[in-house]
Amino acid sequence: MKLKMTLLGLVVGGILTTAAEVEKPWLDSTLTEGDRVEMLLKVMTLKEKIGQLNQSHFGRNSNPNNVTSTPPDAGKGVSGSILYMSESPETRNALQRHLVTKSRLGIPAIFGYDVIHGLKTIFPVPLAQGASFNPALTKSGCAVAAEESCKVGIDWTFSPMIDIGHDPRWGRVVEGYGEDPWLTSVFAVAAVQGYQGDSRADLKRPDKVAACLKHFAGYGASEGGRDYHYTSIPLQELFDIYLPPYKAGVDAGAVTIMSAFNDISGAPASANNFLETEVLRNRWKFDGFIVSDWASVVQLINQGFAKDAAEASERALKAGTDMDMVDGLYIAHLEKLVENGQLPVSVIDESVRRILRIKFRKGLFDNPYVTVYPETERFLKPEYRALAKQSAIESFVLLENKNELLPLDVTKVKTIALVGPGADDDDGMNGSWVGHGNPKDVITLKAALEKQYGSRIKIIYEKGCDYTAKTTDFTKVLNAAEQADVTIACLGEPHSWSGENRSRSGIYLPGSQNEMITALKKTGKPVVSLLFTGRPLELRTVKENSDAMMIAWYPGTEAGNALTDVLFGVESPSGKLTISFPEYVGQIPVHYRRRPPSRHSPIGDYIDGPTKPLYTFGDGKTYTEFKYSNLRLDRTVADKNTTIKATVTVTNTGKKAAKETVLWFINDPYATHNTRPIKELKHFSKSFIKPGESIDVTFEINAGTVFSYPDADGKMHFDAGDIHLMVGNLKTKIECVE
Ligand code: GLC
Repeated sequence: MKLKMTLLGLVVGGILTTAAEVEKPWLDSTLTEGDRVEMLLKVMTLKEKIGQLNQSHFGRNSNPNNVTSTPPDAGKGVSGSILYMSESPETRNALQRHLVTKSRLGIPAIFGYDVIHGLKTIFPVPLAQGASFNPALTKSGCAVAAEESCKVGIDWTFSPMIDIGHDPRWGRVVEGYGEDPWLTSVFAVAAVQGYQGDSRADLKRPDKVAACLKHFAGYGASEGGRDYHYTSIPLQELFDIYLPPYKAGVDAGAVTIMSAFNDISGAPASANNFLETEVLRNRWKFDGFIVSDWASVVQLINQGFAKDAAEASERALKAGTDMDMVDGLYIAHLEKLVENGQLPVSVIDESVRRILRIKFRKGLFDNPYVTVYPETERFLKPEYRALAKQSAIESFVLLENKNELLPLDVTKVKTIALVGPGADDDDGMNGSWVGHGNPKDVITLKAALEKQYGSRIKIIYEKGCDYTAKTTDFTKVLNAAEQADVTIACLGEPHSWSGENRSRSGIYLPGSQNEMITALKKTGKPVVSLLFTGRPLELRTVKENSDAMMIAWYPGTEAGNALTDVLFGVESPSGKLTISFPEYVGQIPVHYRRRPPSRHSPIGDYIDGPTKPLYTFGDGKTYTEFKYSNLRLDRTVADKNTTIKATVTVTNTGKKAAKETVLWFINDPYATHNTRPIKELKHFSKSFIKPGESIDVTFEINAGTVFSYPDADGKMHFDAGDIHLMVGNLKTKIECVE
């Protein structure tokens, strides 16, 4: 009955329309996309056009910020899009059937949802995926997410989030791939291809969804890590740090972009003409559409960029925000703005054109409905789980391994004390933005240890403490440790402390976890600390009191199975940090890609603390050692049209096979237009290397691309002069000539 009432309340284009048959020549799929768009656009009424610019929502999600006061329904003039939070394909088809059959022109809606790192099969959070340095796994994972999403009726995911995160106080660093623009660009492309396919034609496939690059742009620079706050971004940094991943995503064919909440140096992103029109449309020729973030149009009033809702609507649309997410402002105000001459219909037409274009490209006019599969055939297929497990395995970052405590030897370890709030935290393993992930599908470390090793090893489980509650009683935990050969301490942050609207003023380990690890150390038994977290944390105490320490992030559905494989050496860890871990929160920002200071103080950067972060970009150990040697170039002089072949030999000098990610950085010590970072990642590749094996790893350097840098106008420059190339512990120099 509820659905029926909702459907009845569903109006299209803001008006109840009859289902009178009209000619629909645009449904001829042999016509070009452009012709189909123009045929339809020219017969649409103003109300019908404005309806396309509106996104309503159906169902509720868990984000406390997104649950409106009134029961959300799809009844407010929806015809453009539905933010679809249900997981019923039947309901989705019913909503779509109403729109298509009961409306005058039968324009299908596009159904969007936040599928950030999986729909039902939950993959590691994106910050963990970045740490794998394996974009192919992200591409495959996004393809799985797309397949599962289509099974519930989603056509469009609000992903990948490609904001550069320099400040771990900001809760949303978990959703991005880290602090580096190049790495984030590579993962942006992988995600877009995973979601949409490798070609424009692939997007029509019933197992592909439209991608959405977000949040455009500079959201990660929120002042003080405070979500939703002002971002002061000089134009040169905008082009150097924040925009490259978007350019890469657009060039990879992403069909939608989401505007951001933040005010960018005085012009909020959701009404920022320079970004949304000059850069995106005029320079990059982006032909998709921009959807606002949740109510970011009406929020322009809060930011003082509009005096009222009408002005907010006008400014956002004119700047280039084509679709209004859920605040209903476009539906309520655009028609009057046109009638009183403030808003030319041509502006509306252009936004409608972009939205229709993507609907045709997605194939929604040709196939408005999704196939309804039996529940048992939709999700969590074994191959999906296997992929999620591999992604988790490759995301773990081993930061300490004193006396090579890890991997554990199953023939020697007789008793394990498994302690801490993360050991059996099924809900937590999925992290934030979990699509329709269900904790009951998660394999926790406790479950995996008991299942796989319980017959050979005694597992003593004592939670010991919560993530955040204070306690001083560690009796049970210490008793367990006393009986064990090794203690595995599962520490970190509750997953609810990560994500949107989850900024912190400190990044200390909450609760009494530091006290617990200190007490455990005193038992004299070896301790392996695992950190479940969506952000860098202050880990001084954990480092001091642990023999091994590994960042596990939020590893997703296969968490426990991935962890046991790495803990017992079935696979060596291969993750590296893509975001720096400050030793003290006061060091923030402390990312690696910094500009050189005018001088280095002999006492360091602080009189009361360390200069360097505790761990930096690229840190990560494994169960063997790699030696870099014989860095050589096929030429050492280059103009902007030169391709240089750089090669380095990497040798596994240890006893265990492992994967090594080879990171190539440059340093431009002198640039004519503006300063350059002390080092910049420009290439990486990951290889499996057996013990004793040596391999050659190459980097084909297109000098004009790799050595150029943007100025404040976004113009790229290639200077004459030396460029340093660094890989591993080796360094060489290339002379650039005009
Ligand atoms: C949220 C987020 C955005 C998300 C959108 C829809 O507030 O900022 O990332 O896609 O609303 O849920």
